[in-house]
Amino acid sequence: MMTLFTTAPFTATPLDRPSRPKGAPIIIARDVCKEFELPDGNGTFTVLKDINLQIHEGEFVALLGRSGSGKSTLLRILAGLIPPTSGEVISSGQRVTGPNPDVAMVFQTFALLPWLTVLQNVELSLEALGVPPKERRERALKAIDMVGLDGFESAYPKELSGGMKQRVGFARAFVRQPKVLFMDEPFSALDVLTAENLRGEIAELWEQGDFPAKSVLLITHNIEEAVLLADRVIILGANPGRVRGEVVIDLSYAARERSNKHFKELVDGIYIAMTNPDRDVRDAMAGVPRRENPYPPLPHATAGGISGLLEVLNERPDLRDLPEISSTLQLPTDELLPIVDAAVLLGFAVVNEGDITLTDIGRVFSSADIQTSKEIFRRQVLERVPLIRQIYTTLTERPNGMIRAGVFLDMLEEHFPEEEAQQQFDIAVDWGRYTELFEYDQTDDRLRLSQP
Ligand SMILES: Nc1ncnc2c1ncn2[C@@H]1O[C@H](COP(=O)(O)OP(=O)(O)OP(=O)(O)O)[C@@H](O)[C@H]1O
Ligand SMILES: [Mg+2]
Repeated sequence: MMTLFTTAPFTATPLDRPSRPKGAPIIIARDVCKEFELPDGNGTFTVLKDINLQIHEGEFVALLGRSGSGKSTLLRILAGLIPPTSGEVISSGQRVTGPNPDVAMVFQTFALLPWLTVLQNVELSLEALGVPPKERRERALKAIDMVGLDGFESAYPKELSGGMKQRVGFARAFVRQPKVLFMDEPFSALDVLTAENLRGEIAELWEQGDFPAKSVLLITHNIEEAVLLADRVIILGANPGRVRGEVVIDLSYAARERSNKHFKELVDGIYIAMTNPDRDVRDAMAGVPRRENPYPPLPHATAGGISGLLEVLNERPDLRDLPEISSTLQLPTDELLPIVDAAVLLGFAVVNEGDITLTDIGRVFSSADIQTSKEIFRRQVLERVPLIRQIYTTLTERPNGMIRAGVFLDMLEEHFPEEEAQQQFDIAVDWGRYTELFEYDQTDDRLRLSQP
């Protein structure tokens, strides 16, 4: 077996960690304020005050606020259609001083040109960008197909129902393949059933991962709609419009139904926040339990670190006291403890009043040859680590024995903050590789069975 701690602890030296740029902010609002002149020179009226927010890559964000809280004004500022009175908007690292090229917008009122056909309305969106006619046509037809309006290319807006008009609205934004899609109450001019349908289709497109934008910012005053669609709901207060707080929607899309208990708890919690404008959002949400995490957090320790510690403990039965181990191995406590936690989690050791001792299986593990050790480790992780078990079972059920890593990262992000989700993933990959269960391939961002 490897000698001790040639593999540095996880916290000190990250593994060959996949550095996916996921989650980088695309749009940043910094201290954005907006004032309008009152009529007849009666001074100014503050609509937005000190708005700070970020839209990250891969996020679906909802901006929830009552009528008049300045939602549309904020959206227009982020889109670069009107300037803020003070503060700034940064998009893809550039300060926004005119129409923001990263953004395409879907409006509540559809805003179609009545004298143009469906196809022409959609193509128009690209004309302004200077896209050549042939490509324009191809992309427009594809977008029209995507929103289910195949066959209506030459219809005029007046011949379409409200729901179909809004489908054109979506196609017109989709065709630009913007980084961020802005939607200003896109469903609120539609009847209930049509709205429900269209909302469901948008959710499905987003969930499937072939959405024609990296991120979405949805403006709504409908709490349920926000909880159905968003990863994160930013709650705006009114007079003046300001960010009151935010709520993370820790529910998978599959579970977002009115009959789901946690769905209802989230909706109710946000309702309390919205109807108590002076209350702290976190306080209003305090009664809402965090969803139980089916993936208990893995200690930040590498498989190499764990087996190294066990090897030392096996060779030095006198060495039990954790502070003594820490000084003997010259390993700071905050690096030693995750390794100890991991050894305990895997059933290799027990800790009692600051003393660590090997279990029977821990002793067998640390004195066996490398192949046997790996087999023991494998058995222990499959039995005791739900995350690794789940990755492994999923892979064995795939015909080609592989899957996009994003599937598991997304799943972890429902239960951990983004950075921790990535760390949990990295630890699982390290343990999975050590036990020859699965491997992560950075070049194509996939997990594969080690032995197909
Ligand atoms: N160009 C303008 N000049 C003066 N006042 C404006 C202007 N645009 C918006 N306002 C005022 O700013 C406030 C916020 O308007 P905004 O349309 O941003 O709110 P909203 O949250 O989108 O409301 P709704 O839910 O009704 O769409 C309102 O009081 C509105 O009258
Ligand atoms: Mg509005």
